[in-house]
Amino acid sequence: MNKFATVIMAAAAATLLVTGCSKSDSSKIKVGFSQVGAESDWRKASTESIKGEAEKRASIELTFSDAQQKQENQIKAIRNFISKGVDVISFSPVVATGFEDVLKEAKEAEIPVVLFDRAVDVSEDGLYVSFIGSDFVEEGRRAGRWVVKNVGENANVAELVGTVGSAPAIDRKKGFEEIIANYPGIKIIKSQSGDFTRAKGKEVMESFLKSPEADQIQVLFAHNDDMALGAIQAIEEAGKKPGKDIIIISIDGVKTMFEQILAGNANCTVECNPLIGAQLFDVVEQIHAGKSVPSRIPSVEGVYDNVGGVNVGTDREPVVTKKITQEIVDSRKY
Ligand code: AHR
Repeated sequence: MNKFATVIMAAAAATLLVTGCSKSDSSKIKVGFSQVGAESDWRKASTESIKGEAEKRASIELTFSDAQQKQENQIKAIRNFISKGVDVISFSPVVATGFEDVLKEAKEAEIPVVLFDRAVDVSEDGLYVSFIGSDFVEEGRRAGRWVVKNVGENANVAELVGTVGSAPAIDRKKGFEEIIANYPGIKIIKSQSGDFTRAKGKEVMESFLKSPEADQIQVLFAHNDDMALGAIQAIEEAGKKPGKDIIIISIDGVKTMFEQILAGNANCTVECNPLIGAQLFDVVEQIHAGKSVPSRIPSVEGVYDNVGGVNVGTDREPVVTKKITQEIVDSRKY
């Protein structure tokens, strides 16, 4: 509702203007970015988008830090950015909670923070200026609607959950469950974290396929493509046909998943756009110039499958799936 509300308050704006005047004439805008890690193809594309865009812009000096999927590393990196006195801090939080203290430290140091890709759960307003990224709850809903429309109102689902406590894992689960709650015949019979990686996705799927419920699994809902790709291997090794014996739906839309859908080994991927580096530095430049920015900047995303023409949005806001073709695969950048 307040999607485009501006958040820089008068005092903060004044501070930014002062900061902008004192530094912009003589130096670049110093940006400290803390990335989650390199856990997935999606994440690698996200990192390339950030670094590539920073290189293109003469105005930006980027310090990039990889948290290796550990929150403690991320907090250390942010504290380091604060002590170096960067102009803007941005990060993609490993998990949603536990950042309140360090965000307060950034605020005290008068360094604006832009959340990138993932949100945080904080009890106080004004700890960050803007959040650029996807609507993970809606991604989960789209996956749920696809299952209802393509598998039907009765299905046993195995779920590969993302990193425990991360915003995409919490929100995608929430969105998916919100939709299937209307269909008592659709049940999640197995659910476990695969930490967003291919290796863990495979490992957890192997354990699902060895469990007493193995033969009941009809659908796999993976919170990202990498875990689904690991699961495809596990399903094949167990002598089943991925995409047929077990319908596979995941989230991200990476090229390798497109290839698997085209080959018939998976069925649908809900896009989550990692190429938002340009949006980040647009916002950074606006903040540095003392301009107000929207508190929430959503990414634009589609849904791809082996059917085409399925509305996985709502009647009021339709989102129609695109059927994967070789041309779509070839044009995919990540
Ligand atoms: O935050 C976005 C999620 O993080 C992507 O879905 C996943 O692949 C990544 O690791």
